[in-house]
Amino acid sequence: GGIRSASKHDSGPKHVAGEAVYVDDILEPFGTLHLAPGAATVAHGRITKMDLSKVRSAPGVVCVLTADDVPGVNDVSPAHTHDDPVLPDGIVQFYGQPVFCVAAETREQARNAVKLAEIEYEELPAILSVKEALEKQQFVAPPHVMAQGDAKSALVRAKHRRSGAMEIGGQDHFYLEGQITFAIPQEDGDVLLHCSTQHPSEVQHNIANVLGRPANAVTVEVRRMGGGFGGKETQASQWAALAAIVAVKTGRPAKMRLDRDDDMVMTGKRHDFIVEYDVGFDDDGRICGLDIQYAANCGFSADLSAAICDRAMFHTDNAYFLGDVEIRSYRCKTNLVSNTAFRGFGGPQGMVAIERIIDEIAMTIGRDPLDVRIANYYGTTDRNTTPYHMTVEDNVLAELTNDILASCDYRKRREEIDAFNAQSPVIKRGISITPVKFGISFTTTFLNQAGALIHIYQDGSVHLNHGGTEMGQGLFIKVAQVVAEEFQIDLDRIKITATNTGKVPNTSATAASSGADMNGMAARDAAITIKSRLIAFAAEKYGVVEAAVRFVPGRVIIGGVTELEFADLVKQAYLARVSLSATGYYATPKIHYDRETASGRPFYYFAYGMACSEVMIDTLTGEYKVTRVDISHDVGRSLNPAIDRGQIEGGFIQGMGWLTSEELWWDDAGRLRTHAPSTYKIPACSDRPEDFRLELWSSGRNVEKTIHRSKAVGEPPLMLAISVHRAIADAIASVGDYKVIPMLNAPATPEAVLNAVANVAKGM
Ligand code: MTE
Ligand code: MOS
Repeated sequence: GGIRSASKHDSGPKHVAGEAVYVDDILEPFGTLHLAPGAATVAHGRITKMDLSKVRSAPGVVCVLTADDVPGVNDVSPAHTHDDPVLPDGIVQFYGQPVFCVAAETREQARNAVKLAEIEYEELPAILSVKEALEKQQFVAPPHVMAQGDAKSALVRAKHRRSGAMEIGGQDHFYLEGQITFAIPQEDGDVLLHCSTQHPSEVQHNIANVLGRPANAVTVEVRRMGGGFGGKETQASQWAALAAIVAVKTGRPAKMRLDRDDDMVMTGKRHDFIVEYDVGFDDDGRICGLDIQYAANCGFSADLSAAICDRAMFHTDNAYFLGDVEIRSYRCKTNLVSNTAFRGFGGPQGMVAIERIIDEIAMTIGRDPLDVRIANYYGTTDRNTTPYHMTVEDNVLAELTNDILASCDYRKRREEIDAFNAQSPVIKRGISITPVKFGISFTTTFLNQAGALIHIYQDGSVHLNHGGTEMGQGLFIKVAQVVAEEFQIDLDRIKITATNTGKVPNTSATAASSGADMNGMAARDAAITIKSRLIAFAAEKYGVVEAAVRFVPGRVIIGGVTELEFADLVKQAYLARVSLSATGYYATPKIHYDRETASGRPFYYFAYGMACSEVMIDTLTGEYKVTRVDISHDVGRSLNPAIDRGQIEGGFIQGMGWLTSEELWWDDAGRLRTHAPSTYKIPACSDRPEDFRLELWSSGRNVEKTIHRSKAVGEPPLMLAISVHRAIADAIASVGDYKVIPMLNAPATPEAVLNAVANVAKGM
């Protein structure tokens, strides 16, 4: 049960049996109220009339909240940009924005009462696309530039040059458990929040502000989320605030649980991007100059958009040395829901663009795209600085590529596919192999800190707590394994406990894939503190040197003579008045970044991976299927291979959904029309690759001293799915005998594929 064991997810059996307790499963105390939000029906407008009298007198209604009912600061913005009202005061900024909230005896009564509101608006001009926001220069945060060398003159000198644009769609998180908070009033107007959030500390601080109370009046607890995927990094606060206000105001427990459709309409998603590029390259397809511009749809407020757009810039290179490069980023303000973190945090958008650019270069010079990729890989001794002036020190691209090429038969299959396509007029096959290099750390340096708390009770059982949250990714089991390893005890001696702001304070979001790296280290630190106390005690009591006290599985050997059960030593230490409780702390070393000059070492290390995907498309309908996928992914020395495999599979499929079937569509009024699974297609079981071969890269290691030399795994695998998008483009290109470059955007829905096929057939 220690490190490197493929221990199953601690809640796996409970998930399957329905016994895992999510916020909505907590038994409701007598008197619990249920909340429902009332939504704006214009994309941008001034409220001229708000008559809620019929709502207030509807059956079961106990209270109705508007902006006036916020006791403290009416803001839940994550970075203190003061642009995320709990409820808007006068001006609404997107279609579906909650403008009031009803609390009633039952959920149904609350939802029915919402419909009785009489609200009128004076409509204001609304910006509903990135393109329009860019034209009108409407931003939620200032534009940002990152550069190395002189891209302009490099482009002029380049032998070949190509420019283009790509549209990349957004993505709904589609966590199985929607946003929810259950607020329980406490003494003195304090409140306890059971909240589905990746960031309990931020919810605590935000809700204290909203209530006009100090942070110590609010406690946030999270046992687990039914998925977060970035969607609960900042966007739990608004719902937590509404529940908290009602609980404090009425003195009754209050539950705010969003209905699925409301969740999709009212909460932010992955940012959609428009990317424009101008690239210069030589006869081998080597990039020698790149000018690239990202325009991101941030929605009506800043949220985490600045950091997300920064990460897109940081991943413009993916695995490639770009030479002279200029990267510009515009954080566009639209009258749409405010977009937020989503697995990869902007990185995927940056990487999708460069991978399409590489394919275009390959087609321009008539080379296999794989060879162009390899030609552009970062070097190990030269050609190894990123556009943000960080030296890549842990490059494993060449080795990883050789290994996956040996097992996936790319070159042979490429020939087979050519032969197949030559005799198959309707069904076409395509293949692509793409790398992933993903920077690990929060790029806001101060966020890279974590804390933990361990108690050992007199019977030797262990209570483990840390600042990380469990959203299905297996963080809790990994951290428990780390502690089991330190004490050499069985995993079942360790109680995994809910994240709670009262136990470990001032934590960062569980995000940026850093959960196990940071909380694993903090927990290990706490364990080592207690362990050294136990060692000092045993050495003194049994008259041996400290080095002669050794922890072996389940027992402790003291000086080669005495051997005690772990629990016996603990009991003896307690009786001798040794503290059996400790906090632990960790701050990621080596990292620094100067945003003004866009240079530094924002990442502690990189995670690498490669995927080879093969697809089949029907050129008459645009339908496709993924027939085979080979993945080799670098998790360093895995803490838990079973959990890591799950993360890679899930990340890949989620990425595939983003780039293929998941399409968000707003109408001319700014109303999201794809707000339910009936119209928004996430991958189903039947969409998984028919032949799915996945391996943890056997030579994986971490040159940095991470927790037991493992690597973060949460986000990087999502971007392996870019190979699916590129394989679809490859299949489309076969229609024009690889002479016409398909301008395939994302998502590559069947409709988009059909259009691209038609364009290639027409030679455009
Ligand atoms: N896996 C599951 N099952 N559910 C999730 O919500 N979120 C992803 C990833 N894997 C997620 C997941 C995201 S966006 C991140 S940042 C990481 O998990 C966070 O957890 P970690 O830091 O412990 O890897
Ligand atoms: Mo993950 S997008 O960093 O929550």
